[in-house]
Amino acid sequence: MTVTFNNDKSSSEDEYNVFIRKIEDLPTLPYILMKIWKLVDSPDTSSKNLEEVISLDQALTAKVIRLANSPFYHIPFRVNNVKDAIVNIGFDAVKNLSIAVSVTSFFKKSERSGGYFPLKDFWRHCVGVGVVSRYIAEKVEGIDYELCFCSGILHDIGKFALNILFPQRFGEVLQRAAKEKSRIHKIEKEIFKFDHSYFGKELAKYWNFGDDLISIIGDHHKPVDEIDENLRIETSVIKVADSIVRQIKFGFSGDFLDDTFDDRALELLALDRERLKVLIPEIKKEIELASQIINLV
Ligand SMILES: [Fe+2]
Ligand SMILES: [Fe+2]
Repeated sequence: MTVTFNNDKSSSEDEYNVFIRKIEDLPTLPYILMKIWKLVDSPDTSSKNLEEVISLDQALTAKVIRLANSPFYHIPFRVNNVKDAIVNIGFDAVKNLSIAVSVTSFFKKSERSGGYFPLKDFWRHCVGVGVVSRYIAEKVEGIDYELCFCSGILHDIGKFALNILFPQRFGEVLQRAAKEKSRIHKIEKEIFKFDHSYFGKELAKYWNFGDDLISIIGDHHKPVDEIDENLRIETSVIKVADSIVRQIKFGFSGDFLDDTFDDRALELLALDRERLKVLIPEIKKEIELASQIINLV
């Protein structure tokens, strides 16, 4: 699909309505991703279902096999098909990998030439936050780490939408964030009246994401006590992962300010800075996986 946008100067119109009208110009998510998404939602998903869905997409199949054969997984023999990949690197790993690869390649294909945002580095940030979110979530009892993984990857989709729909004004946001050493969502609010978490939530609704995912995307820059109570822990996971990925400078989120942690989010997850320092080397190893995912796309 070719996307063209020419109305980038809408100063007199209500920003929200302009965004909602233009959101329909964004490409729809690919069929394969919708299918994998449905699998993630269903508790009865089997390895066979996953294998069937991945096999519908030749490019994805090739990438899953290539990753399963990468040194990261230390498999002593060659994996030749998706079934073997699932058996050897695990169902969850293949499922997560498929989501990450499909989302990243979708956004890469949607890249608008002449934009100001370095999308490849941005997707490194997103996949990094997904991987670190899953890592943290696995250590917190009783929370859905798959949801945290997907939310982490998609938490900043609002930036993607703003970059495509309003390239000049989003470029202005980036320039000001750099010049003023400020957080990007603060400048977005000044220029667009809303920030990317708000626009991301609207895009997530338009793409029919699950309610939990919509809520996490929409709340990820809110103070912890204002976050939807039912998803406060999951959203805090994303907030902490976002800070970690920015601090270790994996990818580029659009922010030029060295980030600090949200103390309330750390408290909710029973984490502190000292404990995080100890975990960072292990987290960096997890991030290695993210690099391989990115390189595959
Ligand atoms: Fe964000
Ligand atoms: Fe982020």
